[in-house]
This record gives sequence, C-alpha cells and structure tokens, in this order.
Amino acid sequence: MNKVCLLACLAGLILGTVSWLGAQTGSLTEAPATMILRISGPGFGRKPPVAFSHREHEAGRVACTQCHHDYRGRRNVWRQGLPVEKCQACHGLRPEPRRLDLKNAFHRQCKGCPLRLQQQGRRAGPIDCRDCHRRS
Ligand code: HEC
Ligand code: HEC
Ligand code: HEC
Repeated sequence: MNKVCLLACLAGLILGTVSWLGAQTGSLTEAPATMILRISGPGFGRKPPVAFSHREHEAGRVACTQCHHDYRGRRNVWRQGLPVEKCQACHGLRPEPRRLDLKNAFHRQCKGCPLRLQQQGRRAGPIDCRDCHRRS
C-alpha cells in the first residue's frame, strides 16, 4: 500500500467512525415530520404525552430558530443544518438557578408562541391543556 492510499483509508475510517457516532447519539439535523413529546422521570407522566408536528410549523413558516437554540451570551448560535439536542440536554427535570426546567421550557415555548399569535388574530396551535395533552 502506498502512502496516499493509506491516508485515504485512514480518512475513510475516521469519517465512518464519526458518522457512526453521530447516528448512535441521535444527533439528527433533519426535522422529523411528527414526534410524541413525553417527559419521563419520577413525578412526571401525569398528563398524556403531546403530539408535535414539524410539518405544521413548517407550513406556518415558523423558523427553526424560533424553537431551537444554543445561546452564547444572549446570541443564539444554532443554525439550521446543525445537530439538534433534546431540550432535556440543557433544561433539567428540576429547576436550577437562571435555567428554565424542562416542563416550563416546553410550556413557555409551546403555549407562549401560539398565545401571542392568537392575540394578533392569527391562526395558531392549541393553548388549552386538553388540546395538547390528549388521550387517544
Ligand atoms: C401547547 C401545548 C401544551 C399545553 C396547552 C399544555 N401543555 Fe403541558 N406540556 C406540554 C409539553 C410539550 C410537555 C412536555 C411533554 C410531556 O411530558 O407531555 C408538557 C408537560 C406537562 C407536564 C409534565 C409531564 C407530566 O405528564 O407530568 C404537566 C404536569 C403538564 N404539562 C400539565 C399541563 C397543564 C395542567 C396544562 C393546562 C393548564 C398544560 N399542561 C397545557 C404541552 C402543553
Ligand atoms: C415550533 C417549534 C419548532 C420548530 C419551528 C422546529 N422544531 Fe425541531 N423540534 C421541536 C421540538 C419540541 C423537538 C423535540 C425536542 C425534544 O424531544 O427534546 C424538536 C426536535 C427536532 C430534532 C431532533 C429529533 C430527535 O429525534 O431528536 C431535529 C433534528 C429538529 N427538531 C430539527 C428542526 C429543523 C431543521 C427545523 C426547521 C426546519 C425545526 N426543527 C423547527 C420544535 C421545533
Ligand atoms: C444547548 C442547550 C439548550 C437546548 C438544547 C435547549 N435550550 Fe432552551 N435555553 C437554553 C438556555 C441557556 C436558555 C437561557 C436561560 C433560560 O432561560 O433557561 C434557554 C431558554 C429557553 C427558553 C426561554 C426563552 C428563550 O428562548 O430564551 C425557552 C422557552 C426554552 N429555552 C425552551 C427550550 C425547548 C422547548 C427546547 C427544545 C426544543 C430547548 N429550549 C432546548 C439552553 C438550551
């Protein structure tokens, strides 16, 4: 094997490992059409899980950066195409100083935005408990 070939093989091996690791940690970059949102842990699961649709939000032209963020100071440095972490990676189950806990992070985002739109007389998603937490 000559040097060039060896380098190419090494590069291939590294790339392969990196993408395999990406797949293992579930760091997706493409939005799944629909998801079921559920907080699990002691004290949770009192309410039925919530169905969430990326498609409907895309149709409503809501930018990815309205919901996905990675703050450096006050600046959101997350951009479409970068991997997305679970909200839970940063918002813990219990409140911490200066950090929204997971339930309030979901509620603030999932209720806050539709409420503002409704107040502007625009079409928006549900804001009542039972319209989000539905037993099917
Ligand atoms: C816009 C949608 C939306 C509305 C409206 C909403 N929730 Fe939620 N809620 C969520 C999402 C998303 C989560 C996180 C996923 C999960 O565990 O259900 C959540 C989580 C929760 C949890 C923690 C998880 C659990 O099951 O223990 C509770 C409790 C809860 N909501 C209660 C309520 C109550 C009470 C209301 C009405 C006052 C309400 N929610 C309205 C979307 C909503
Ligand atoms: C209205 C809010 C909202 C918008 C807009 C939005 N997302 Fe999401 N996205 C979510 C929520 C909520 C989750 C679930 C996070 C979790 O499970 O912790 C999610 C999850 C994801 C995931 C991870 C899926 C997984 O299985 O872990 C990817 C990738 C993603 N979104 C990409 C995008 C892209 C790309 C866009 C823009 C085209 C986008 N999202 C727009 C709210 C949104
Ligand atoms: C990489 C870490 C990280 C991830 C992932 C993340 N957040 Fe945040 N989020 C933060 C930080 C840091 C803040 C600012 C401090 C605070 O308000 O808790 C914040 C603030 C918020 C706020 C307050 C309003 C705002 O945007 O400043 C909401 C609501 C919120 N996050 C919801 C979510 C939801 C829902 C998800 C999943 C779709 C999510 N976050 C994923 C780190 C993250």
